[in-house]
Amino acid sequence: PRPILLTRHGESMDNVRGRTGGDSVISESGKIYAKKLANFVEKRLKNEKAASIWTSTLQRTILTAGSIVGFPKVQWRALDEINSGVCDGMTYEEIKKIMPEEFESRRKDKLRYRYPRGESYLDVIQRLEPVIIELERQRAPVVVIAHQAVLRALYAYFADRPLKEIPQIEMPLHTIIEIQMGVSGVQEKRYKLMD
Ligand code: G3H
Repeated sequence: PRPILLTRHGESMDNVRGRTGGDSVISESGKIYAKKLANFVEKRLKNEKAASIWTSTLQRTILTAGSIVGFPKVQWRALDEINSGVCDGMTYEEIKKIMPEEFESRRKDKLRYRYPRGESYLDVIQRLEPVIIELERQRAPVVVIAHQAVLRALYAYFADRPLKEIPQIEMPLHTIIEIQMGVSGVQEKRYKLMD
C-alpha cells in the first residue's frame, strides 16, 4: 500500500500574528519545520521514485516544500486555504468586534457558514473533489502540503469522518499525518516533528 502524507505548511507570519488568510511567508520556526519535513520525506520515500509533492499556490506551502529535493512538485489552486472573503487578513478578535453577526453565524454553523465574498467549508469540500480523484488515481506516494481547513476536509474523506465534524478536526502545525490505504482499510500514523 502506498502512503499519503498530509501536513500543514510550516508556521507562517500570519499564524504568529493570529491572522486568517493572507499569503505570508513562513517564520523562523516554520523554516526549521521545512528542513525537518524534507529530511523525513527524503528518508521515508527514498525508494519511491514516482512519488510527488503537492502544494497549494500560496507561498507558505511552496516555501515549506522548498527544502525537499528529488521529487516533482505540483501546485494546486484547489489546495489553497478557505477564502475568508471580507475577513481575509483579520484576527478572530477583530472579526468578533467589527462584524459580530458574522462571527456569531460562523460559530453557530461553521460547516455551512460562507464568509461574505468568500467560502464555506462546504465550498472547500466541493472544490477538493478533483484533488481527491487524482489522489485516488495515484499509485505512488503523495505528500500534500496545504492548510488547516483544506486538510481537515481531505483527512475526513480518507479517515471516513462525518461531514459535520470537519470544521472541528484537530490539525496541528508541524505534524505529519500518514495515511495508508490497504485492502483491510485505512491506517493512520502521526509524526510530530516539532512543537
Ligand atoms: O485561515 C484559515 C484557518 O486555517 C481556518 O481555520 O476554519 O478554524 O477558522 P478555521
